[in-house]
Amino acid sequence: MKVAVIYYSMTGSVYRLARSVEEGAAEAGATVRLRRAAELIPQAVIDARPELRRAQEEQRSVETATVEDLVWADGVALGSPTRFGNITAQLKNFLDQTGGLWAQGTLVGKAVGFFTGANTMHGGHETTILTMSTFAYHHGMVIVPAGYAIPQVGTTRTGGSPYGPSEFSGKGVELSEEEAIIARAFGARLAQVAGKLAR
Ligand SMILES: Cc1cc2nc3c(=O)[nH]c(=O)nc-3n(C[C@H](O)[C@H](O)[C@H](O)COP(=O)(O)O)c2cc1C
Repeated sequence: MKVAVIYYSMTGSVYRLARSVEEGAAEAGATVRLRRAAELIPQAVIDARPELRRAQEEQRSVETATVEDLVWADGVALGSPTRFGNITAQLKNFLDQTGGLWAQGTLVGKAVGFFTGANTMHGGHETTILTMSTFAYHHGMVIVPAGYAIPQVGTTRTGGSPYGPSEFSGKGVELSEEEAIIARAFGARLAQVAGKLAR
């Protein structure tokens, strides 16, 4: 199985979630590409804010996502922090480059799932995943949710929803135990479903 984990993270929290999804997919036997959507914030703005600078440093080794990563993958996990209950411009900018793939039906039948982050409990975990997911419907992809089959989805007092993993720590602090478990289990499930569909 080949899984692409493609995300954007400004202050590092969703990056941590992406790493957990990557771990889960790798543990399930997948070859994983971890990729970050290209930054749109001017470098001068990043340089003036230590928390952004720190997060940029932390993610320096992660390659920038290209549409070829979607062509390569059997399964795709897409992650973005919430922006007023919606996807970030950075991940949207990446998805907006997939018109050619849509025209050719390249992603039809591939597995896809979503993850997010928000710094308030009711500030958009579900809406961000659902608004991100319209991409998958238009491409004819097969959506893989977290679901309550991951027991921690039913018991978490932090992030993690049936729609997909999430974190609500914000600002780059460590994930809660439940957030990390849900993200790893989701990564494993995505890899397994992607493998079955590819076969
Ligand atoms: C412009 C902007 C809008 C945001 N909107 C929301 C929001 O609607 N609800 C919320 O809970 N957090 C919101 N946040 C907070 C981030 O989504 C949250 O801190 C997230 O965990 C950051 O992820 P990152 O560390 O990967 O960048 C917003 C942040 C910014 C900069």
